[in-house]
Amino acid sequence: MLIFIKTTFLLSSMTGGSMISDDAKIGEDAKIGKLVIIEEGCVIGNGVSIGDRVTLHKGTRIGDNSVIQESCIIGKHPRPGPRTSHKIDPQPGAVIGEKVLVGAFSIVYAGTVIHDYCYVGDFVGIREKCDIGEYSTVGRGVLIEFGVKCGHHVRIMNNAQITEGTRIGNNVFVAPDVSTMTDRKMARDDNIFVPPVFEDNTRIGSNAVILPGVRVEKEGTVGAGSVVMKDVKENQIVVGNPAKLAGIVMKRDRLSPDGTPNWRLKGKE
Ligand SMILES: CC(C)(COP(=O)(O)OP(=O)(O)OC[C@H]1O[C@@H](n2cnc3c(N)ncnc32)[C@H](O)[C@@H]1OP(=O)(O)O)[C@@H](O)C(=O)NCCC(=O)NCCS
Repeated sequence: MLIFIKTTFLLSSMTGGSMISDDAKIGEDAKIGKLVIIEEGCVIGNGVSIGDRVTLHKGTRIGDNSVIQESCIIGKHPRPGPRTSHKIDPQPGAVIGEKVLVGAFSIVYAGTVIHDYCYVGDFVGIREKCDIGEYSTVGRGVLIEFGVKCGHHVRIMNNAQITEGTRIGNNVFVAPDVSTMTDRKMARDDNIFVPPVFEDNTRIGSNAVILPGVRVEKEGTVGAGSVVMKDVKENQIVVGNPAKLAGIVMKRDRLSPDGTPNWRLKGKE
């Protein structure tokens, strides 16, 4: 039997059972829990809190005053499975911005950026090459597949599943248990993956199912439990299986350019 021991990773500093690479940079007042592993090239900002049993893989960067709770794995490198169809390139370290909270047991892959002021719940998985815009929330148990790009102030609620390559604009609300998909023929064609697109200010109700390639245009709204096969045009509300037009989002319910609902502004309609 072959036993491979990685010798390039020298873990020299050992405190509270933690193993911290010699070249890791750790900011002032950073708190490091017990049994933490910090690999080479990591940069941890001032006032950061790293919980017990966290692993920070090679090259991870964590901005000032962020909190990484117990048992998280940040900067995990993707490994192709025997049937993986997409090419997996080496990725740079994960980047976590300032004042971000990553809940316990979450896994953020290498090559992903989570911008400032985001909240990531417990048991979240975020694959490689994702970009999560500032002030966004990723609820407990959410899975975000590789290459997903989200704007700012996005809310993806508990247990939603965001398929690879999905494009999500600003101020988008994705309710709990929403399911999105990218492969209409379910592995019976030449891997034609067409992810959905959610434009700015769109809302997707609980348990909705969004089929591959569907575009929900600005302010488009999908009712809870709907199965969406076709594009949702600007301001349309669709419901049902298959989802059909049920109404139009009223002007007072739309968001102003700064993300405030119109009804909160003066001169309500
Ligand atoms: C789609 C939705 C936004 C429409 O709200 P609304 O504009 O107030 O619409 P109404 O309740 O007046 O319903 C309009 C019609 O659509 C139907 N309808 C509404 N939502 C529906 C849904 N999700 N599925 C099927 N039909 C629905 C209503 O029965 C009604 O039909 P009728 O005219 O034949 O009586 C809302 O029903 C919805 O599904 N919201 C999602 C809630 C959610 O998931 N929240 C997550 C955070 S907890």
